[in-house]
Amino acid sequence: MIQKSVLVTGANGQLGSEIRLLANQYPQFAFTFTDIQELDLQDSKSIMDCFSQLKPAYLINCAAYTAVDKAENDIDLCYAINSAAVSHLALAAKQHNTTVLHVSTDYVFDGKQSRPYRESDPVCPVSVYGKSKLQGEQALNDICPTSSVIVRTAWLYSAFGNNFVKTMIRLGREKSELRVVSDQWGSPTYAADLAEALIKIILSAEAGHFSPGIYHYSNEGSCSWYEFAQKIHQLAGITSCKIIPVSTAEYPTAAQRPSYSLLDKSKIRGDYGVAVPLWTESLEACLSNFNNCK
Ligand SMILES: NC(=O)c1ccc[n+]([C@@H]2O[C@H](COP(=O)([O-])OP(=O)(O)OC[C@H]3O[C@@H](n4cnc5c(N)ncnc54)[C@H](OP(=O)(O)O)[C@@H]3O)[C@@H](O)[C@H]2O)c1
Repeated sequence: MIQKSVLVTGANGQLGSEIRLLANQYPQFAFTFTDIQELDLQDSKSIMDCFSQLKPAYLINCAAYTAVDKAENDIDLCYAINSAAVSHLALAAKQHNTTVLHVSTDYVFDGKQSRPYRESDPVCPVSVYGKSKLQGEQALNDICPTSSVIVRTAWLYSAFGNNFVKTMIRLGREKSELRVVSDQWGSPTYAADLAEALIKIILSAEAGHFSPGIYHYSNEGSCSWYEFAQKIHQLAGITSCKIIPVSTAEYPTAAQRPSYSLLDKSKIRGDYGVAVPLWTESLEACLSNFNNCK
């Protein structure tokens, strides 16, 4: 069997690690997983060399600068990874006829809407991170308009890396009280579900059904961070910590966040037939993978 090459960048992060777990289910693809040690995306020459060597049929770019608050004071590095690096990747992909799957964020929106965001809704990021990710989207769309898919996701968590779920479990075991924001609404996303969705897009492309452009993907349903925290503690069996709802104003952060960032998943369901599990079910599935969650 001739395997098609799939390059995964930023592969040691939450999403990349979940794709790594799925890889051996797809022997038709030869996956190459890279992170900053193997392929620093700030280095355009290394990217070109990597593409010349691998000639990937697909690129899944999971790399990003994701420290949303830190980004407010680390602007150059944030843009270098979330925007300039995406341009470098897009130029290499164009040269080698590589189909690009890139991941973006609900933080491209300002959160002023009151129904789930569609791909066609106007963007208006309110943080450095959101602005840098939007610039990355635009660069990719300019360079590879017909050979790229951008999947915006939200509130990502996994058994790998650092995330809200792990933080709530750790703090829930250490503290008797936790204050969590209750006036920001969104859709949590289990990175394993997003990994499956990305592979489904590749399988669809292989079957001759590829539709480029922007897509939204998160888990189904919605909650506030407070409700998310409550559910995490319930499923992890943490009963000794009281969770207190607070407003965004009472919990100031360096970066402003959208107060509402639910994503409408109709387009990705319709075009690619991806599954969108309920957030509570996916959270349960994720926690069952944590060795130490009970
Ligand atoms: N996390 C969320 O809540 C969230 C929400 C919405 C959208 N997203 C998007 O979803 C995607 C995946 O997020 P994630 O949570 O899996 O991210 P993550 O866990 O932070 O992983 C990103 C990976 O990229 C690597 N990276 C950073 N700079 C790099 C460089 N110059 N060259 C190569 N790799 C580099 C990081 O390495 P280091 O750890 O060493 O920096 C890390 O391993 C990203 O596009 C992100 O913007 C995330």
